[in-house]
Amino acid sequence: MTAVTPGKIADTATGQAGGAGPVHVAIIMDGNGRWAARRGLPRAEGHRRGVEALRRTVRAAAEQGLRYLTIYSFSSENWRRPQTEIAELFSLLRRFVRHDLESLSEQGVRVRIIGERGNLSDDIRALLEEAETRTAANQGLTLVVAFNYGSRAEIVEAARAMARDVAAGRLDPSAIDEAAMSARLHTAGIPDPDLIIRTSGEERLSNFLLWQAAYAEFLFMPILWPDFDGKALAEAIAVFRSRERRYGGLGAVSAGA
Ligand code: IPE
Ligand code: IPE
Ligand code: MG
Repeated sequence: MTAVTPGKIADTATGQAGGAGPVHVAIIMDGNGRWAARRGLPRAEGHRRGVEALRRTVRAAAEQGLRYLTIYSFSSENWRRPQTEIAELFSLLRRFVRHDLESLSEQGVRVRIIGERGNLSDDIRALLEEAETRTAANQGLTLVVAFNYGSRAEIVEAARAMARDVAAGRLDPSAIDEAAMSARLHTAGIPDPDLIIRTSGEERLSNFLLWQAAYAEFLFMPILWPDFDGKALAEAIAVFRSRERRYGGLGAVSAGA
């Protein structure tokens, strides 16, 4: 598979079908509420089962050779939910970091958190920082947790940072390019996702990785997130490998390759 430098679209014109990869899979973990509703259970139970699906998926991702797994766990728009549900989601995050960090670390997982931290409470911020620092030296899968994340706000913040650098004389406007933008996003240093999966049948991005998704393959799966597992991930990867990525060039057949 063509190597893609962080934040950069591959400059190849030869799409590849049946190739290797993906290196980076991002998942919009959706459908917890519907999973619970179908069973007459409270939504919170769907979220709890969603965390179990996450544990399975992290293990499977490493086993299946991914280098990066990004998960959308709380969006900047999820503050619109009832206070009780928000509290439940935050308590699940707390428990996940407290109980799973050790085992994630044993698996060699390195944790990165993306999203806005300014409006989070001190204890949550400290927990997120602990997850990153305790796993910083790990060499296995990088688990990127999008928490309190919104892509438009991320892009606006990057634009503001560039404006500040220009005003301070540190950045020449003519030097503003795609790499300068990528370097100021929360995902700096992380390659763009090759494949974005959304579970539950919804087909939208909901403010997730708008810049980074420029050449991602999309896969919308009907499975509800609490039912997701290694088999579902393997299926998604097989679909990805059957696709031809062209990056605006000609495909293998059209090019007569
Ligand atoms: C995804 O499941 C989890 C989060 C958004 C935090 P939902 O809670 O969105 O489940 P549905 O979409 O209501 O089924
Ligand atoms: C997107 O799911 C956010 C997460 C999975 C964390 P939502 O369920 O919040 O998205 P919408 O509201 O259906 O677009
Ligand atoms: Mg949803």
